[in-house]
Amino acid sequence: HPHLHYHDQALQLEGLRLADLAREFGTPLYVYSQAAMLDALGAYQRGFAGRKVQICYAMKANSSLAVLQLFARHGCGFDIVSAGELQRVIAAGGDPAKVIFSGVGKTRAEMRQALEVGIGCFNVESEAELEVLSEVAQSMGLRAPISIRVNPNVDAKTHPYISTGLKGNKFGIAHERTVATYQRAAALPGLRVVGIDCHIGSQITEESPYLDAMDRMLDLVQAIEAAGIAVHHIDFGGGLGIDYNGDTPPRADALWAKLLAKLDARGYGDRQLMIEPGRSLVGNAGVCLTEVLYLKPGEQKNFCIVDAAMNDLPRPAMYQAYHAIVPLQATAPTAVSHVYDVVGPICESGDWIGRDRNLAVAAGDMLAVLSAGAYCSSMGSTYNTRPRPAEVLVDGARAHLIRTRESVNDIFRSEKLVPQGNP
Ligand code: LLP
Repeated sequence: HPHLHYHDQALQLEGLRLADLAREFGTPLYVYSQAAMLDALGAYQRGFAGRKVQICYAMKANSSLAVLQLFARHGCGFDIVSAGELQRVIAAGGDPAKVIFSGVGKTRAEMRQALEVGIGCFNVESEAELEVLSEVAQSMGLRAPISIRVNPNVDAKTHPYISTGLKGNKFGIAHERTVATYQRAAALPGLRVVGIDCHIGSQITEESPYLDAMDRMLDLVQAIEAAGIAVHHIDFGGGLGIDYNGDTPPRADALWAKLLAKLDARGYGDRQLMIEPGRSLVGNAGVCLTEVLYLKPGEQKNFCIVDAAMNDLPRPAMYQAYHAIVPLQATAPTAVSHVYDVVGPICESGDWIGRDRNLAVAAGDMLAVLSAGAYCSSMGSTYNTRPRPAEVLVDGARAHLIRTRESVNDIFRSEKLVPQGNP
């Protein structure tokens, strides 16, 4: 966690004490470091120095408007997966021309909206989608810029976490179908072929699957171009992992040095590149602050019950994901600690944030759940009618409230009672 450190026993993010923010804005509270996000972006930008590249932040990782605004101001485009995300790009001041639209289930209405604002590219995921997109674009007198998502089918045996680039999942087009699919795309009147894309998975911590995928992508580019169809850009997706629990992913610049060397060696070094990183830009820039409500010792387990729950931070409940949990006030080495399951108030046994954590805590203490910048707030819900947490963006010694705490009224504003006649 860059920019996160204890100072006089108090946990700080950049120049601010997190306990002060928790007091001012309440808990649960998401807090992000602007410097950490820009550092993460900087690693990619360094890696691509002197190259033609468009970084399209995969905003599903964290789609808060101020986060999008920050990346837009620093030159990013966006990888979107819905018309809702497109509206967020526009609301945050992003450039629609730098938007790529991924996803297996784009509706006609979503295609129309994206064509109206002139997005950069549709990443098409099936042959059926090609036909529909061509029809929609043609009906608007347009040609939709497209890339086809191919499935490089990288070896999963050695990399069990990587699943989206394999045969047998819903994403992309099989390796063997690629040239035929490009030929079909090139023949459709409402389409303009501009690129090729892939995305092999998420939280990837090794470089070899990327290197394998690059080889396979370049084989495909060669085959498509041999069939007479120009591939202007190569979009290599996202997926680079972060350190949650001692993970050691390659750094973005080091990884890209190797990938670019491969591109150069095969003569594709001056091709326009695109990437779609999400987690690696924001994951370790954020924390979730939570207050200890109760300690509940038990025969088999001790529970530390906190005010953040699976609705606020769903990754542990959904994926058994590990997030480090640390106190906002550093505890003395002599303090008595116990092993706790850190759990939320929701009425489900799956509602846990951390298991078997050694903590010296008392009710009223504040904790920080780390690595909470990606796929936490953006995956949150209001289950149990729990309003969404507030969010703060820290910039040096300044705190910007970027999302006010939701109210219960916000939650049920769109609901309606059934009119009751006289009994
Ligand atoms: N591009 C495409 C087409 C994607 O499907 C994704 C993520 C990305 C880019 C960004 O991948 P990243 O750089 O963030 O790994 N909710 C899960 C992660 C789901 C990832 C979905 N696709 C989690 O919390 O771990």
